[in-house]
Amino acid sequence: MVPLKDKKEVSFQFINTGLIFLVVAVSFGVLGALQYIITGLFRDNFSFAKVRPLHVSSAVFWILITSCGVVLYYMKEVMNSIWSRSLARWQLIFFLIAMISILCSYILGIFGGREYWEFPPVLAIPFLFAWILFTINVFKSVRIYRRQPVYIWMWLTGAVYFLFSFLESYLWLIPNFRANIVSDMTIQWKSYGSMVGGWNMLIYGSSIYLMDKISGTKQYSYSKIAFLLYFLGLFNLMFNWGHHIYTLPTPKFIQYISYLVSMTELLILGRIIYNWRASLNTATKYYNILPFRFLFAADIWIFLTLLLAIGMSIPSINAYTHGTHITVGHTMGATIGINTFLLLAYVTDIFKIHKPKAVRRISTCLHIALVSLFVFWISLIIAGVIKADWQMHHPDEAFSIMMYNLRPYFITFFISGTILATCFIILVLFVFKYSYQTENNNE
Ligand code: HEM
Repeated sequence: MVPLKDKKEVSFQFINTGLIFLVVAVSFGVLGALQYIITGLFRDNFSFAKVRPLHVSSAVFWILITSCGVVLYYMKEVMNSIWSRSLARWQLIFFLIAMISILCSYILGIFGGREYWEFPPVLAIPFLFAWILFTINVFKSVRIYRRQPVYIWMWLTGAVYFLFSFLESYLWLIPNFRANIVSDMTIQWKSYGSMVGGWNMLIYGSSIYLMDKISGTKQYSYSKIAFLLYFLGLFNLMFNWGHHIYTLPTPKFIQYISYLVSMTELLILGRIIYNWRASLNTATKYYNILPFRFLFAADIWIFLTLLLAIGMSIPSINAYTHGTHITVGHTMGATIGINTFLLLAYVTDIFKIHKPKAVRRISTCLHIALVSLFVFWISLIIAGVIKADWQMHHPDEAFSIMMYNLRPYFITFFISGTILATCFIILVLFVFKYSYQTENNNE
């Protein structure tokens, strides 16, 4: 059980807030999917143009705020304390000010940013403050830098790189950077790619920590393969943007190198998890069954995401997939299948969920979520293939006819997405209920 003292820890407040954002994200996702099949639904007050950013931003907030909470919690386990709890509290306050006002600005229809960060740029300021406080806290908590395990380097690098790329994503506010459309778009996509690389460093670092924590060894945290993953991740942070700009006239070699590196990074993470699973003895596995199962689920999705990404990386195929639902499938496959499942592995570890009844319920949710995510993903890919065929071979055919042909896949997407969303909501409710019950038992 989680001791009561721990429950009051600020990292729990981050994680609880993250779980609420997960519920908000999937709820808006279901509404967006419904708007795919009922065109014009809530067009006047709550159109897809509002629902999409509400969904995507809440999903990104779930990933960011939970990653920060997990890193702060694990940092405390490793270093016995974090540098400043009050700094962490201020970080949470700034995050909440930014995130809530961003969601409100979308609801009120006040935009002004760019794709993925569509809110008025002024709202980025509290977000920026929050991230600066996080970076200071993470750096100050690591008192000695010599001979630190790989996950500490990953957390430090992830914090700095995210900060750097976040600032970079706002360079377009300076007129000189906007003057040339190609360099403007290149910087924009580079910064987005690096931001994802930044949060992946926080998340992958936590995976290595969790795997060593469960097996009670330091097998991976000082291993060559984990450091290889770190350096590939670092390279990726700098160059993985290449594959976002296939359609821009930039040197091709950058795109090929970047794609190769991002594939290798996923392959290595997948291999580490695979080998680690095989190395666990039965007792350890069963005592940590929930984190173990979520890590396994993420491993399956690393494999599936790799398969799709390898296909999409072939330039002649990329020309087809660009701007179709295949790209959406790829992004959601990675953010749900890899990021969300890994984060849930840490959440179940941190909340120390061991009671058989809770374990059974959460495992059932996970299994249903895995199947529905697969159907969800496949339906997006098929819809994308049909759209790509229309774009390239039948542009003379009316858009509305093509969209009509996609309806069966959109209906499947909606149904499987609703099941997936329900699983996540139930899972979050179980975690909250479990946490509330253990807290009361401890009092
Ligand atoms: C943890 C759960 C989820 C995460 C992290 C997530 C993440 C994302 C991301 C990052 C995008 C942007 C994709 C892109 O622009 O390429 C997106 C789009 C979208 N998602 Fe999700 N999603 C989640 C769950 C769901 C669920 C359960 C549904 C629906 C039932 C859903 C429906 C949608 C829709 C309709 C879009 C807009 C696609 C478009 O622009 O055409 N999502 N999601």
